[in-house]
Amino acid sequence: MSAEAVAGLAARPSTCQPGIVTRQQSCLALGAFDLQTGDAARLRELLAAWTAAAARVSAGRRDPQAVEDRVDSGEVQELEPARLTVTLGLGPSVFARVGLEDRRPVAARALPAFAGDELDPRRCDGDLCVQACADDPQVAFHALRTLARVARGTARMRWAQPGFISLGTVEGKGRTPRNLFGFREGARNIREPRELELAVWVAGRDREWMLGGTYMIVRRLRMRLPEWDALAVTEQEAVIGREKVSGATFDDERWAVRGVRPVPEDSHIALAGDVRMLRRSYNYFDGVDAASGEPDAGLVLICFVRDPRRQFVPLQQRLSERDPLGRYAVCTGSAQFAIPPAPAAGEFVGERLFY
Ligand code: HEM
Repeated sequence: MSAEAVAGLAARPSTCQPGIVTRQQSCLALGAFDLQTGDAARLRELLAAWTAAAARVSAGRRDPQAVEDRVDSGEVQELEPARLTVTLGLGPSVFARVGLEDRRPVAARALPAFAGDELDPRRCDGDLCVQACADDPQVAFHALRTLARVARGTARMRWAQPGFISLGTVEGKGRTPRNLFGFREGARNIREPRELELAVWVAGRDREWMLGGTYMIVRRLRMRLPEWDALAVTEQEAVIGREKVSGATFDDERWAVRGVRPVPEDSHIALAGDVRMLRRSYNYFDGVDAASGEPDAGLVLICFVRDPRRQFVPLQQRLSERDPLGRYAVCTGSAQFAIPPAPAAGEFVGERLFY
């Protein structure tokens, strides 16, 4: 491993961008952008401008003059920063677009097709992404809107996804939040620095400019709510592999209220359990699904991994083939982004891509 790689290892995880290990905020405003230029210098300028704008909106200084001057749109004037974080990413397509294919991170590749997906291309992929998370929906939206403004003429939004988890039960403040199937989401997430080191932060086998960064995968999973609601709670529990109300795994002697029994081999957690990844998912509600007349609602699965080819892809292939959850949720949007490490002082996110 090179000296720079070793230095990168020692510096992590303090070198990661905000919004990854940050205690999860209650609101998500996620946007993917397409670059409207093939000029690498314009991409460089945009990343510099986005880094500056992200710092400005996250600092929470409310400057009336910026509103008067129309530098700021003004909808957060009286609002607290609400723990806003902005995370910037680069899609696999952007590198060839600006003639930097030889600098593409080794794992930055479009995800393969997975059985059962019903993808809407208008909800997939993208050259760039902005993940804004805050404890106030208006603050999160303002961040995304501000970065979209800054990008005008260089990049335009391709798709966006709002999300929420229940305020007051955010991890750390209370209990693990619940998803729209009524189960706790994230109970067995990874948290320890050593686990993050092994599963999340990019290490020596990737481009040096990505060391200490990570890869983000986004999957928009629309839930088939009527089919799910028709199941008995014990049937739902057999699908997930956990008790619904207690949240306990079936073999948990302390918390399982229906008696200790083995976790079903074909349950979601049994199938997912051996792959380590950092999940930071949100519920979503996007109006009505015209075909069914049911809410278009579900889970925006967001996860961070060191190498999607070794972690996410094989897991998703296994889940697509065998997970009983597949009968109750369908993936309608999918994307992957390389998330560079946080910039050094005076630099911008992704600056070393251009060295
Ligand atoms: C609508 C779809 C999904 C729902 C409702 C769902 C729900 C859950 C629930 C309730 C748990 C147990 C609690 C927890 O540790 O979070 C869980 C665990 C997990 N899920 Fe999902 N999930 C979904 C899709 C996915 C997908 C697509 C992946 C990855 C490809 C995934 C990866 C995992 C992993 C890695 C675990 C941890 C297993 C463990 O360590 O025991 N899930 N999920």
